[in-house]
Amino acid sequence: MSHAINAAASGQFKVGGDITVNRLGFGAMRVTGRGIWGEPADGAAARETLRRLPELGVDLIDTADSYGPFVSEDLIRDVLHPYKGLLIATKGGLTRHGPDIWAPVGRPEYLRQCVLMSLRRLGVERIDLWQLHRIDPKVPRDEQFDAIARMRKEGLIRHVGLSEVGVADIGAAQKYFPVATVQNRYNLTDRQSEAVLDYSEAHGIGFIPWYPLAAGELTGPGSAFAQIARRLGVSNGQLALAWLLKRSPVMLPIPGTGNPEHLVQNVAAAGIDLSDEDFAVLDGLAR
Ligand SMILES: NC(=O)c1ccc[n+]([C@@H]2O[C@H](COP(=O)([O-])OP(=O)(O)OC[C@H]3O[C@@H](n4cnc5c(N)ncnc54)[C@H](OP(=O)(O)O)[C@@H]3O)[C@@H](O)[C@H]2O)c1
Repeated sequence: MSHAINAAASGQFKVGGDITVNRLGFGAMRVTGRGIWGEPADGAAARETLRRLPELGVDLIDTADSYGPFVSEDLIRDVLHPYKGLLIATKGGLTRHGPDIWAPVGRPEYLRQCVLMSLRRLGVERIDLWQLHRIDPKVPRDEQFDAIARMRKEGLIRHVGLSEVGVADIGAAQKYFPVATVQNRYNLTDRQSEAVLDYSEAHGIGFIPWYPLAAGELTGPGSAFAQIARRLGVSNGQLALAWLLKRSPVMLPIPGTGNPEHLVQNVAAAGIDLSDEDFAVLDGLAR
């Protein structure tokens, strides 16, 4: 591992072709309460976690209006505004009705409200990366894409991302706007989005894997995973992040935490030099 812990060691990616970020980012879902509802149990730690991001070179920060709701965006504004050199990527299109309850609403007027309110909460005139949190199955997807395209034309949004989509959804959206990023669940043990990742890599689309730290049953004592981690002197979570970073140059992991020490551990994964052999062994464990 490198001595200075900095996300720059993960390499860089140009979001939408013109916003350069360090590939290892941060997920700001965990600076909220249990069930991603309300205020965080330890508000001081959540603030300290956010405050440390710039000095650790983390310049891609993922959030959503629905985290809290609003708690995550509000805290980001309080601690990090005016975001010099930071890409604040937010999302809209999911409503909340209690802890761990999420319901998509994709009617054009609601998506517009999401964007207008995120602009106000984040204190910006344009959202650099706005992601449709879910395609609402009750609304034709073209209506949702059209509403987003109009907000992009108006200048309320700079780049557009999608979340939990398939290759066909991306193709359909690209008739309305360039898709800058895709955010799907993906980690060493959950490879259902392999085709979407390959498509993203072929088209220069940033792939943001959520739930990146899961390595679950692979990590038991004596496992090949644990042996590699021990040899490299890294934790299971760090090894899972290093594997993701090596998997694709468009991979932009956003490990989430509300704990400043965990943040430092996660950023340290940017400096892990995973050999081709170790990568292949890890890759084979879950295929
Ligand atoms: N698009 C979507 O639908 C979607 C869905 C879910 C999440 N996301 C985004 O993806 C981000 C990451 O996903 P995630 O938060 O679900 O999963 P994750 O990053 O894989 O795991 C987060 C969990 O691991 C713990 N953790 C983090 N670093 C740790 C460390 N160094 N040591 C020990 N524990 C550690 C955190 O608790 P502590 O706070 O105690 O560290 C938290 O419980 C979210 O923050 C959010 O921005 C997007």
